[in-house]
Amino acid sequence: MITEVIVASTVGVLLLILFLVKFFNNNRHSSSANDKNASKFNESANEFENENQQENILTEEKCNQSQEGNGFEGGKKKYGKPKSGKVKLISDSFTHPLLVTSLKGHAGDVTSFDLSSNGKYLISTATDRSIFLWTIKDVGSKSVKSIRANVEFDSARLIKFSPDNRSFITCLENGNCIRVFKFKKNEDGSFSKIEQVIDDFPKTHSADIINIGIDSAGNYAMTADAGTRFDILNLKGDQLSSVDTGTMCNSGAAVSPCGRFVAAFGFTPDVKVWEVSFDRAKEFKGVKRVFDLKGHKAGVLSLAFSADSSRVATLSKDSTWKLWKTDVEYARGQDPVLVCTGAVKDKLDAARIAVSPDGRTVAIAVENNVTLYNGITQEEDQKIAAIFSSEVRHIMFSMNGKYLICCGDRQVKVFNNPTGYKSQISDYTAQLKTCNKNAERRLTEQLEEAKKALKELS
Ligand SMILES: *[C@@H]1O[C@H](CO)[C@@H](O)[C@H](O)[C@H]1NC(C)=O
Ligand SMILES: *[C@@H]1O[C@H](CO)[C@@H](O)[C@H](O)[C@H]1NC(C)=O
Ligand SMILES: *[C@@H]1O[C@H](CO)[C@@H](O)[C@H](O)[C@H]1NC(C)=O
Ligand SMILES: *[C@@H]1O[C@H](CO)[C@@H](O)[C@H](O)[C@H]1NC(C)=O
Ligand SMILES: *[C@@H]1O[C@H](CO)[C@@H](O)[C@H](O)[C@H]1NC(C)=O
Repeated sequence: MITEVIVASTVGVLLLILFLVKFFNNNRHSSSANDKNASKFNESANEFENENQQENILTEEKCNQSQEGNGFEGGKKKYGKPKSGKVKLISDSFTHPLLVTSLKGHAGDVTSFDLSSNGKYLISTATDRSIFLWTIKDVGSKSVKSIRANVEFDSARLIKFSPDNRSFITCLENGNCIRVFKFKKNEDGSFSKIEQVIDDFPKTHSADIINIGIDSAGNYAMTADAGTRFDILNLKGDQLSSVDTGTMCNSGAAVSPCGRFVAAFGFTPDVKVWEVSFDRAKEFKGVKRVFDLKGHKAGVLSLAFSADSSRVATLSKDSTWKLWKTDVEYARGQDPVLVCTGAVKDKLDAARIAVSPDGRTVAIAVENNVTLYNGITQEEDQKIAAIFSSEVRHIMFSMNGKYLICCGDRQVKVFNNPTGYKSQISDYTAQLKTCNKNAERRLTEQLEEAKKALKELS
C-alpha cells in the first residue's frame, strides 16, 4: 500500500517536472522567434560577438597581405556585424528604366540570395535574422508572393538552394557553420512554412566561412573560409575532405552547376579547379586538382560559372574580367581557353561578377554600381549606378537570362537584361559570317528573335 502511494506520487512529480520543462522550452522558443522581444537573443548574440572578434583578429593576421581592397564574396569584415533590431532608414527614391521590381520585406541588410534550379523561387537572407522565400516565376507581374521565417539565435549570412528546390543551406553569422532548412508545402502546392531540419553542422572552420555551395546531385556541400581552406561535407555535416587552396588567402570558392568542380581563388592570380568524385553508389571517392585558369596579373576577387559549367567568368584586382572556356579534355592535357578579356574602369574594391546562363553576358558590381558587358564584343553596355546606399552584396542572372538580380540595403532588386539580347545578336551575326548553309537558317531565325525581344524591351 505504502509503496504504491510512493510510486504514484513519484510518477506525479516526474510528470509535473516534464510538463514544466516543456512549457519553459516552448515559451523560450516563441519569445526568441518574436522580433520585438529579443532579450534572450541579445544575450547570446553578445556572447558570440566577443568570441568572434577574437577569431577575426587571428584571421586578419593570417591573411594580412590581401586585406586592403579585397571584397570578400560573403565576408563580414567589410560590412560589419548585423545590428539586430536596428533598422537603417534608407531613402527609396531609386528609379531606373531597367528596374522591373524591388522585393521588400527584410528589415535588415540583405546579405545573400539564391535561385532554385527550376527558376521558380528566390530565397534571401538578411541581418535582421529574416529569411524570405519569393515566388518569382511571375516576377514581371505586380505582386510577388512570399513567406518568411526567422533564424533562431543567429542570422544567416549566406544562403544556397539545394537541387531539390525544396530545401536550402545557410551559413550562420555567429555560429560560422551550416544550418539546413526545408519548405513545407500546402496541399495546393504552395509553400506554407520554412523549418529547420536537423541540428547545425559541427563547426569546422576557425576562419570565417566566405562561400558555401551544394552540388546538383545532392552529394555534398562545400564551405570555403577566409584562410586557405575549403571543406567537402556530406549533407549530414560529416567532413569528407579538407583542401588547402594554396591561394595565400581565399577570396572565395564556387561549386560548378554540374557539381563536378570546385574553383578556388584569392590573393594569388591563378584560379585553381578541383574535381570532386563520387562513385555510382554515391560513396565519396576524393578531391583531385584538375586545371588552373592562368592569365590574371593580380589576385582574383570573384568568379562565376555559366549554367552548363562550360564557361567561367573571373574578375581580378588587375582591373580586368575574363571569360574562359572550361569544357576541355583536361585529362588529355588540354588547358582551358581564354575566350575574352574586358577592362573595368571603376576602382575595384568590394567587387563581384556574374555570368549569364548562356555565358555571353557579364555583370560586375563595384560598390553600389552594376555594369553589364557584352561578352562577345567585350564592350561595356549598360551602367546602373547608385542602386543601394551601400555595396551590392550579391549578383546573379535569372535562370532564363532575362533578368539581372542583385541585393543590398533591405532589398532584392530585379532588372531587365537588354545586354543579354545584344550579346546574342553579336554572337549570331559573327557566326553567320562563317557558317554553312544548314546552320544559316536557324541562326537567322535566332537573330531575328533576339532583335525582336530587344525592341520589345526598349
Ligand atoms: C518579453 O518576454 C518576457 C519574458 O521573457 C515577458 O515578461 C515580456 O512581457 C515580453 N515582452 C513582450 C513585449 O512580449
Ligand atoms: C538589445 O540590445 C540593444 C543594444 O545592443 C538594446 O538597445 C535593446 O534594448 C536590447 N533589447 C532587449 C529586448 O533587451
Ligand atoms: C598587417 O599589415 C599592416 C599594414 O597594412 C601592418 O601594419 C601590420 O603590422 C601587419 N600585421 C602583420 C601581422 O603582418
Ligand atoms: C527542381 O528543379 C529541377 C530543375 O528544373 C527539376 O528537375 C526538379 O524536378 C525540381 N524538383 C522539385 C522537387 O520540384
Ligand atoms: C559609381 O558610378 C558613379 C556614376 O557613374 C561614379 O561617379 C562612381 O565613382 C562609381 N563608383 C565606383 C566605386 O566606381
